[in-house]
Amino acid sequence: SARRDIAGRLLAWFDRHGRFDLPWQHPRTPYRVWLSEIMLQQTQVSVVTGYFDRFIKALPDLSALAHAPQDDVLALWSGLGYYARARNLHAAAKLCAEHHDGDLPRDLDALVALPGIGRSTAGAILSQAWGDPAPILDGNVKRVLCRVFGIDGWPGMPVVEKRLWSIAETLLPQTRLADWTQAQMDFGATLCTRANPACAICPLQDVCVARIEGRIGELPAPKPG
Ligand code: ADE
Ligand code: SF4
Repeated sequence: SARRDIAGRLLAWFDRHGRFDLPWQHPRTPYRVWLSEIMLQQTQVSVVTGYFDRFIKALPDLSALAHAPQDDVLALWSGLGYYARARNLHAAAKLCAEHHDGDLPRDLDALVALPGIGRSTAGAILSQAWGDPAPILDGNVKRVLCRVFGIDGWPGMPVVEKRLWSIAETLLPQTRLADWTQAQMDFGATLCTRANPACAICPLQDVCVARIEGRIGELPAPKPG
C-alpha cells in the first residue's frame, strides 16, 4: 500500500515485543480503559499499575465512581499528582450517570465533551474499549510520525498537529484497533525513544525519512523560542 503497510509491520513488532500483561487489558472494559488512560496521561506505566489496582478494587465500576464522595476519589489518587485529573474523572462519571445511562459514550464528540478527555484520550478509549477505528496522537506518536514521515515544524503547532492527525487517520488498520493503539504507545516508549531510538532493529528503518536522511537528531523539531 501507499504507506508500505506501516500498521502491519508495527502490529507484527507488537506481537513479539508489546505489553499484554497490563492490568487494564484484563478485562478491557470501557471504564477500566478510561481510568488507565487518565492515570497514564502524566504518569508512567510502572507507577500507574499499583494505583490502578487499588482504585478498581475500591471503585470497580462507573456507577461506584459516580456515587463516591469526592474525598474518597482524591484519597485513591493521593501520590499520583495532577489532582485535577481525579476531579475531572469524578465529574465525568457523574455526567455519564446523568446523561449517558451510566455508561461512557461510544462517540468521539461526546467523549471529548467530558472533562479530562481530549481527542487523543478519546481515540485511545474508543479503540481499546470497543475496537473502533479512532486514531491517537500523544507525545510518543507525534515523535514517531514526525520521524517516519519527515514532518518539519514543532508538533505542538496547530498546522503541524493537523497534518499529524491526518497521517494518524490514514495509518489506521482494518482490524486489531485496540492492539494498534497499544502498539504505537509501546513502540514510542521502548523503541523509537526520544533520545536513543533503536533504528538498527526498527521494523520501519527502510521507510523512515528521519533515518534515511540522517535527521533523527532534528525530528521532531523543538518548540520555537
Ligand atoms: N500512555 C497512555 N496510554 C498508555 C497505554 N495504554 N499504555 C502505555 N502507555 C500509555
Ligand atoms: Fe524511529 Fe529510527 Fe525507527 Fe525511524 S528508524 S521510526 S527514527 S526507531
